Amino acid sequence: MKGGNLHKLRGNRLSLSLLALLCTTLIVWAWEKTPSLSTFLPPREQFDIFSPATVVPARTPVTISENKIETPSAKEDLSAVGRPVNALPNEAGKVVVIPQSDSSMRTSSEKEDKGKGSKNMPVEKKECNYAKGKWVADKRRPLYSGFGCKQWLSQMWACRLMQRTDFAYEGFRWQPQGCDMPEFKGSEFLRRMQHKTIALVGDSLGRQQFQSLMCMVTGGNYSPEALDVGKEYGLVKAPGAIRPDGWAYRFPSTNTTILYYWSASLCELEPLNRSDPATHYAMHLDRPAIFLKQYLHRFDVLVLNTGHHWNRGKFTANRWEMYVGGKPNTDRKIAQIWNARNLTIYSVIKWLDAQLPQHRQLKAFFRTISPRHFVNGDWNTGGSCDNTIPLAGGSEVLQDGSNDTVVEGAVGGTRVKLLDITALSQLRDEGHISKYTNKALAGVHDCLHWCLPGIPDTWNEILYAQL
Ligand SMILES: *[C@@H]1O[C@H](CO)[C@@H](O)[C@H](O)[C@H]1NC(C)=O
Ligand SMILES: *[C@@H]1O[C@H](CO)[C@@H](O)[C@H](O)[C@H]1NC(C)=O
Ligand SMILES: *[C@@H]1O[C@H](CO)[C@@H](O)[C@H](O)[C@H]1NC(C)=O
Ligand SMILES: *[C@@H]1O[C@H](CO)[C@@H](O)[C@H](O)[C@H]1NC(C)=O
Repeated sequence: MKGGNLHKLRGNRLSLSLLALLCTTLIVWAWEKTPSLSTFLPPREQFDIFSPATVVPARTPVTISENKIETPSAKEDLSAVGRPVNALPNEAGKVVVIPQSDSSMRTSSEKEDKGKGSKNMPVEKKECNYAKGKWVADKRRPLYSGFGCKQWLSQMWACRLMQRTDFAYEGFRWQPQGCDMPEFKGSEFLRRMQHKTIALVGDSLGRQQFQSLMCMVTGGNYSPEALDVGKEYGLVKAPGAIRPDGWAYRFPSTNTTILYYWSASLCELEPLNRSDPATHYAMHLDRPAIFLKQYLHRFDVLVLNTGHHWNRGKFTANRWEMYVGGKPNTDRKIAQIWNARNLTIYSVIKWLDAQLPQHRQLKAFFRTISPRHFVNGDWNTGGSCDNTIPLAGGSEVLQDGSNDTVVEGAVGGTRVKLLDITALSQLRDEGHISKYTNKALAGVHDCLHWCLPGIPDTWNEILYAQL
């Protein structure tokens, strides 16, 4: 009898395993069938299941080099010695101060307010879908020199200062279909942004957009008059940290402030043991980063993004543990990382939308995911992006919808605007750092971040067009 039960149990296990194998095969097959998708979405981790012990070893390397791709500067990497490989300084050692207020994201009763704001605004121009259009060669590009802008541009993203010899990718501008893009002029931008604060909050791709904006505004020229006002936003280097959690600069001529805050997930992170330097963090999927709540009232323009940290490697290295409703997550569906990202994006946007009536000065944008272009492997398995011919795969975006359906869906019906750059950036595989990434990472190609000047400049032009 016992033996029979055991056999039955084994049989059940076996069929379960077979089922799992079948599912995996189907998923992998479906995945490979959509190579375009697989290139621009973070790899595989969408299919994380709740506790798949067998998958863990395969993930470990992801952690290490993805982070290196995040911070490929030799200097920064060297100074990171002794830290968890994948933890960025702000995530690693920082103690987050949690205000006592109820930090869950709630929709307030301000919904009726929708539309009121537009009454006071000048007659709106015909809505333009800036995401639809084509790339055209333009001799007036780039908007600043990659040899300059040393004040703002990280060396790790300044491809003009690398061994790279092809720069054709710099010579294009984006032309939306049926509507015009205002020509970006730094002085005009500052004039329009007089007494205003522009905040970019997100991951390293958000930081690229920030550096790009600083270079565009100054034309890449040295600007000693720009004031470092990081302190006003708590952006100071914590003891032992490599860098602060962000930067803020003010142009005194127009009293315009541009800032960037590092928040890879946009979630509130709460250390679970404040006295432990190696503490894990409650990653509150349904609460926005504290920084956003703290400073929202001071922003006139806010651009959010999150994308490439939603994978198991990053979660492990950063010691993030999913929390929902203030408690550890037990929902298996949410535990799948791509669903967790979905939940967070919806939550942040819902919260932000509810805040907007009380912050009438604020124009809020959510930027869609920036596409990756690894081919013949991923970043850690020899993947590369060697094409140097611009627009080899086509120059036009013809579709009306976004390729980032999560962000598009989440802003739908809210006052938060879509900054849709996914499909147009997808056409620019030659614009990544590629193999010219830092020597310390020989062999690892960066097909995630972009050369600057480059594609993120266009994101800012599209942002400017919508301000
Ligand atoms: C600069 O702008 C802020 C609002 O963003 C305002 O509170 C402040 O008074 C301005 N400063 C000057 C000197 O005009
Ligand atoms: C918190 O961390 C400290 C230092 O590592 C440790 O001594 C303490 O036991 C931890 N507390 C809890 C509740 O785990
Ligand atoms: C994302 O979350 C929203 C809101 O909870 C839900 O309506 C939607 O179906 C989710 N999308 C996916 C792909 O899970
Ligand atoms: C983007 O979306 C369109 C339709 O919405 C689809 O035809 C196209 O293949 C997508 N592109 C990628 C790279 O997934």
